[in-house]
Amino acid sequence: MAVLRIGLLGAGVIGSAHAAVLQQISAAMPGCLDLTAVADPDPSAGARAQAAFGFQRVYTEGHALLDRERLDAVFVCAPTAFHAAYVEHAAERGCAIFCEKPLAMSYAEGAAMVECVERHAVPHQIGLVLRFSAVYNVMRSLLDNRNLGVPLAVVFRDDQVFPIRGVHSSPWRADRALTAGGTLIEHGVHDLDLLAWFFGPPVWLQAWQRNVAGHPGVEDYVAVELRFANGLQAQLVNVWHDMVQRPSNRRLEIFCQRGFLASDADFLGDLTCQFGDEAEGLLAATEVLQGFQELLPPSMPSALREFAGIAYLVQDFAFVEALRNGHRPQPGLEVGLEAQRLAEAAYHSAATGRGVELASYFPTTPPSARP
Ligand SMILES: NC(=O)c1ccc[n+]([C@@H]2O[C@H](COP(=O)([O-])OP(=O)(O)OC[C@H]3O[C@@H](n4cnc5c(N)ncnc54)[C@H](O)[C@@H]3O)[C@@H](O)[C@H]2O)c1
Repeated sequence: MAVLRIGLLGAGVIGSAHAAVLQQISAAMPGCLDLTAVADPDPSAGARAQAAFGFQRVYTEGHALLDRERLDAVFVCAPTAFHAAYVEHAAERGCAIFCEKPLAMSYAEGAAMVECVERHAVPHQIGLVLRFSAVYNVMRSLLDNRNLGVPLAVVFRDDQVFPIRGVHSSPWRADRALTAGGTLIEHGVHDLDLLAWFFGPPVWLQAWQRNVAGHPGVEDYVAVELRFANGLQAQLVNVWHDMVQRPSNRRLEIFCQRGFLASDADFLGDLTCQFGDEAEGLLAATEVLQGFQELLPPSMPSALREFAGIAYLVQDFAFVEALRNGHRPQPGLEVGLEAQRLAEAAYHSAATGRGVELASYFPTTPPSARP
């Protein structure tokens, strides 16, 4: 099978994470990938990526890279404001696209991106990485396969430091010209997608938001109440605080009529379970990993399976495998667009103080600046 020539646009936190796992995939599957070129306007970021991951050429401008290189796939890992132009350019070049979340600066912009990749018939995947998390896959499998009864309530709490300091030291995150918004669209979009992935599309939501840090249009607190077709109610809280030592946290609790699942880990960790009249039990992280490994495709080499707790590795392996086998990668950009729609419905609800019926909410204009 021909080697896949890969380009990387944006070599910051997430671009480097992709490059690291692609390097790992390449080592486990010799002759499968070629890390061809990287582009970043910060020459030191490009040089670091070249030194660390072996990219052959470095550019300071992503469109120049797309024009000059013959690539099979590109990873769009620049700040959100640049996603649309890169995706459209790569699609015109016939290049497969992995685009980081959130898809776009607005639902309208994202809809044009989806139309473009479909028109050019290029394979595409969105970086909704929680779909490749060990603990969430095992939870989802338990929901599907154990007799937990009717899902009654979900409580989902997600907090991290405002990502302009600490691990995510990205000044653009506080600039509404470069970011799609604040904690909900730039981080909680993963959570909205996860809820839809677990329970199907929500039918209604209501949301509340605050902006305490004071970066215009970049909110740092959002609470969303969602209702699903089967009556399930979910509460999602997203917070960007200012405690640089506090790690990024998610806690997900699912209450069913005859079952309870909870985890404080979003990738790999312990899973609390209770089934029917049994006592509460714990699946240790090692058991969660084992359970997830059983769900992975047999084609995944054992040198990668043992690292399946690294969701980015599983995610990028899935993208590479889909390209190698001519399958449609999942989740595609249209899934990112749906998560963007839910986030914008939440912003609309918070601005108007009213709930939103989701079947008929398709924003046609970019959301106005948020308080
Ligand atoms: N899926 C996830 O878990 C996850 C995590 C973090 C970030 N993200 C998303 O990935 C994207 C990048 O975020 P990050 O955390 O890596 O940010 P970052 O600040 O760490 O890195 C961004 C990099 O892009 C470079 N850059 C700026 N303008 C560029 C351009 N026009 N072309 C190419 N490169 C450019 C910057 O110099 C920087 O090196 C954002 O859309 C963000 O929301 C996703």
